[in-house]
Amino acid sequence: MAATASVGRASALEPYDGVRPDAAWREEVLRLAERRNAVILAHNYQLPEIQDIAHHTGDSLALSRIAADSDADTIVFCGVHFMAETAKILSPTKTVLIPDERAGCSLADSITAEDLRAWKAEHPGAVVVSYVNTTAEVKAETDVCCTSSNAVDVVRSIPADREVLFCPDQFLGAHVKRETGRENLHVWAGECHVHAGINGPELAEKAAANPDADLFIHPECGCATSALYLAGEGTVPQDRVKILSTGDMVKAARGTSARTVLVATEVGMLHQLRRAAPEIDFRAVNDRAACRYMKMITPAALLRALREGRDEVHVDPDVAERARGAVQRMIAIGQPGGGE
Ligand code: 13P
Ligand code: SF4
Repeated sequence: MAATASVGRASALEPYDGVRPDAAWREEVLRLAERRNAVILAHNYQLPEIQDIAHHTGDSLALSRIAADSDADTIVFCGVHFMAETAKILSPTKTVLIPDERAGCSLADSITAEDLRAWKAEHPGAVVVSYVNTTAEVKAETDVCCTSSNAVDVVRSIPADREVLFCPDQFLGAHVKRETGRENLHVWAGECHVHAGINGPELAEKAAANPDADLFIHPECGCATSALYLAGEGTVPQDRVKILSTGDMVKAARGTSARTVLVATEVGMLHQLRRAAPEIDFRAVNDRAACRYMKMITPAALLRALREGRDEVHVDPDVAERARGAVQRMIAIGQPGGGE
């Protein structure tokens, strides 16, 4: 687990919350994980030190699959709350810990179960597709969940004559609508504050300054439409614009011949990309795009989680029961991968 370039910090060994992520910290974390028979999962936006110590890193779909298949007694989810909740829905008998339960998600907060029930009442018979970035209560009102890596496949699996309600991300919804050409897909107007802030003019300026670069764009970004526009008008060659989930960005990094890649997503992503392809110059389209919730999972918080068994994630069993089918359908659709 080599330490590589860290993002936005002076040193990989700088203390966070007073804890230095050094060799002694690593040894203690792994010892405690072994004692609990715990598996540590880390999302691609986590701090570099957390990504490096995790047993598995990946995108939200890959981590859900790993959580569902794991035979560990405890899952320590280094990510945000909805991700840990999804693991608990899939594995109700396991202990699921999140190192800081305050790690929420502004996108998940953009729709409530009550909002969704009211929307469904306006469209009786519609199929509800919810992004995994939603609460367990919203998932319980959902027919099938999706992530950024399989959203298009999930919508394609629904008969063409059925109306679809897609929530809560408007930019991912617009991407799915464009890809499927589906007129009967209605999109909720939610957004992630981090990705919405990565805008078109910023991308156009960076693309003009780096004419040979690939563009890796997360579909939650406000600039996703602009990226396709740049490709459409020929400013950037079509094959250089890639709309990808975080896990698919790592796969694309291994396959590209580009020497420079402009990355439009949360900046934690740069760490996995640089690990996957150290010879490529990965540059953030917006280097202020950091998710403060993801960064709440500090080395100190991870150590505390393993020492004290908290914060434990609980999902009401009735809610989990109603949400499970939608999450299991999500896991079954799309290519495996996106994590390691
Ligand atoms: P991925 O599914 O691509 O990992 O994205 C999750 C997320 O929260 C994006 O902000
Ligand atoms: Fe939620 Fe946005 Fe953070 Fe992803 S980056 S966890 S969508 S707030």
